[in-house]
Amino acid sequence: MTSWTPASIPDLTGKSAVVTGANSGIGLPTALELARHGARVVVAARSAEKGGAAVETIRREVPSAQVEYARLDLADLASVREFAAGVGDVDLLINNAGIGMISRQETKDGFEMQFGTNHLGHFALTGLLLPKLLVRPGARVVTVSSDAHVVGRLDFDNLDLERGYGRLSAYARSKLANLLFTLELQRRAEKAGAGLISAASHPGTTATNIVKLGPLQPLFGLLFKSPEKGAHPSLYAATSPAIRGGEFVGPKLKILTPSESARSEELARRLWDVSTELTGVRFKEIAYS
Ligand SMILES: NC(=O)c1ccc[n+]([C@@H]2O[C@H](COP(=O)([O-])OP(=O)(O)OC[C@H]3O[C@@H](n4cnc5c(N)ncnc54)[C@H](OP(=O)(O)O)[C@@H]3O)[C@@H](O)[C@H]2O)c1
Repeated sequence: MTSWTPASIPDLTGKSAVVTGANSGIGLPTALELARHGARVVVAARSAEKGGAAVETIRREVPSAQVEYARLDLADLASVREFAAGVGDVDLLINNAGIGMISRQETKDGFEMQFGTNHLGHFALTGLLLPKLLVRPGARVVTVSSDAHVVGRLDFDNLDLERGYGRLSAYARSKLANLLFTLELQRRAEKAGAGLISAASHPGTTATNIVKLGPLQPLFGLLFKSPEKGAHPSLYAATSPAIRGGEFVGPKLKILTPSESARSEELARRLWDVSTELTGVRFKEIAYS
């Protein structure tokens, strides 16, 4: 699919999109291109200052853009609930925000930060927005994962990673959870006869704030692709008519095969049950009977 460019995105007039982490990195050009093609876009970000600046950037680039900021802190389930209650229609949910390679921290609700933000926050957000998504024809959820998922391991007896915490292994685990979630959401939607498409993306190594190179940081713009390019897999997954539920779009828009762990239905079901228990969000519209 090398001929695809953001100019190939169809007219999105009448559609509403929520992009998490749209104030920075890959999320900003994702939100910008959706707005450029006519979607009403909600910039979901944890800082009003950064979210407001992103809205201004998008309006400068696309003066006709219908774009607004709404506060969302994925590391705080109360904030996720507040955001979901306040948002209007949702056709496209781009679960893009992420945190990576940090020392061990906890979310407001006491979850290990990378798992809590990247997976549990998006799990809760998607479940709370599900009733809004299910009434919109052609609705899609795109969850940004990473090829780092291949080294991810999920130990349900050590979810808090109080033992053996590693910055990269915690990140990889959260990205494995993103893919398990994507595929399980697709299976559940299909079983319930819902038209919802759940897909995942991997941007490829992109020059954004999440990539931490220490003293080499000033070079990263030369070494890695631009955030605009990094946004292509998400944009393609969110808008291309060629996408099928459960697909994982990578750099150059190749459809990637998730690792064996990511394809495990047993692991996905267990993660779903644990995530339901931890967040209290039930996805009852597509629950297995
Ligand atoms: N860059 C890469 O090479 C690469 C490769 C594979 C996958 N990815 C994935 O791409 C996605 C986007 O990351 P990026 O590369 O664009 O990095 P980034 O520039 O650091 O963007 C991450 C975004 O997530 C937001 N965020 C972090 N914690 C949050 C929270 N608790 N609540 C709400 N928003 C939060 C950040 O907000 P603040 O600005 O407030 O921190 C920022 O807007 C992530 O899921 C990442 O795992 C990136």
